[in-house]
Amino acid sequence: MKISAVIFDLDGVIVSTDEYHYQAWKQISGQENIYFDRKINERLRGVSRMESLDIILSHSDKAYSESEKQQLALRKNDIYCELLNKLSPNDILPGVINLLISLKARDIKIAIGSSSKNTPFILEQIGLTANFDAIADGNCIKNSKPDPEVFLLAAKMLGVNPQECAVIEDAQAGIDAAKAAEMKAVGIGSAANCLNADMKLQDLTNLDIDQLLEVNEIRS
Ligand code: G6P
Ligand code: MG
Repeated sequence: MKISAVIFDLDGVIVSTDEYHYQAWKQISGQENIYFDRKINERLRGVSRMESLDIILSHSDKAYSESEKQQLALRKNDIYCELLNKLSPNDILPGVINLLISLKARDIKIAIGSSSKNTPFILEQIGLTANFDAIADGNCIKNSKPDPEVFLLAAKMLGVNPQECAVIEDAQAGIDAAKAAEMKAVGIGSAANCLNADMKLQDLTNLDIDQLLEVNEIRS
């Protein structure tokens, strides 16, 4: 089936927020005396805030109550949002703007499919809110990636069949979610090694748009 819509993950695809997530979780884990490093941070890619917290707390012996966990997640988000204030259109990752323009020119629908509850704020900061036909994010889903819910919601908002969608992702959880939604999956950056991605690229600068839209045909 022809690709008629492209769904973009946000963090790590449109803009790199990894370092800000890392700094915010590092502060929280430091305050709680919990070991946390960049390798553990990699495991948080594409994973929801509360599930990220559970991964961090798995390195602690202390048993945290539900309300303590909510407090920690709130504190982390306050630090993270303070850092997000620094974001600007200069932080849009290479190749993104050209791809958005090319897709519009071909009448391909475009959406965001992100686990982040900060999606509206991030899109405002980088000036791209009006560029998407639909925005499905962490505020409107129950199950985060690798569950396909966010991508299926994006397809529904766009009024297209899941099989007509290509997803661009930088996380294994996101590639798994796209495949579970029966969508074509493009892995970029750290997802360029995902075995189940249909296309693999270092970044979006050398994405062949014809290949993207015919990804079904080139699938091996
Ligand atoms: C993205 C990031 C994850 C983050 C999640 C939730 O998927 O890749 O690292 O945990 O969003 O972000 P939030 O902004 O809601 O805390
Ligand atoms: Mg991502």
